[in-house]
Amino acid sequence: MPVEEFVGYEDLIRFMEEKRLCALKGDIVEIGAYMGGGTAKLAAYVRPYGKKVYAVDTFDPRLDDTRGKGGVRAGDVYQAFLNGRSMLEAYREATRGLDNVVTLQQDSRQVAFRRGQRFCFGFVDGCHQQSYVENDFRLIWTRLVPGGAVGLHDYAFDDWPEVTTAVDGLIAAHAGEIGEIHALTGKHGIVTIILVKE
Ligand SMILES: C[S@@+](CC[C@H](N)C(=O)[O-])C[C@H]1O[C@@H](n2cnc3c(N)ncnc32)[C@H](O)[C@@H]1O
Repeated sequence: MPVEEFVGYEDLIRFMEEKRLCALKGDIVEIGAYMGGGTAKLAAYVRPYGKKVYAVDTFDPRLDDTRGKGGVRAGDVYQAFLNGRSMLEAYREATRGLDNVVTLQQDSRQVAFRRGQRFCFGFVDGCHQQSYVENDFRLIWTRLVPGGAVGLHDYAFDDWPEVTTAVDGLIAAHAGEIGEIHALTGKHGIVTIILVKE
């Protein structure tokens, strides 16, 4: 079965390559791993650099109660794409054999990294509510090394307007710490905003 992901992680990896992010200290963190297709791509890419991918997800598609603009419930969308499969089993299958994946089966608000944990790249595609996007950004940004980057998926995407509100607010609040801002258009024309830390 092909490894599914819904972002276009090759574009993220191309960005990491262009910016030589793996030459920096720190690991990778992904919030919102879903079926693990993107986790597997990130892990395979960073493995030769001795880096880990911390993948955060509740792995329960029923839990996300976020309502999209048209009233659609995020959890129902995740269940529909799983087509009866278990999310955790699909994820385990996609990431099998990748010994640099660290799986954190948790609500992202409950995640606590060890003291001294640093990241060179983080990707946020978990719960699309404003408070979660802000939480997930903070979780990464406070541990991001200088020159490192964080990607925020679903910017300016009609279905999840709170992501755009959150990202605009974060850019304004952290303007003095942001060296570069990039917009990557990935699968289905959906934009990831990437903020590079000074
Ligand atoms: C849009 S999907 C991620 C898709 C994935 N990036 C890909 O391209 O395959 C969002 C994921 O976030 C997870 N999620 C939602 N709320 C969460 C929360 N509070 N904490 C952790 N994960 C959460 C869902 O379970 C779901 O797997």
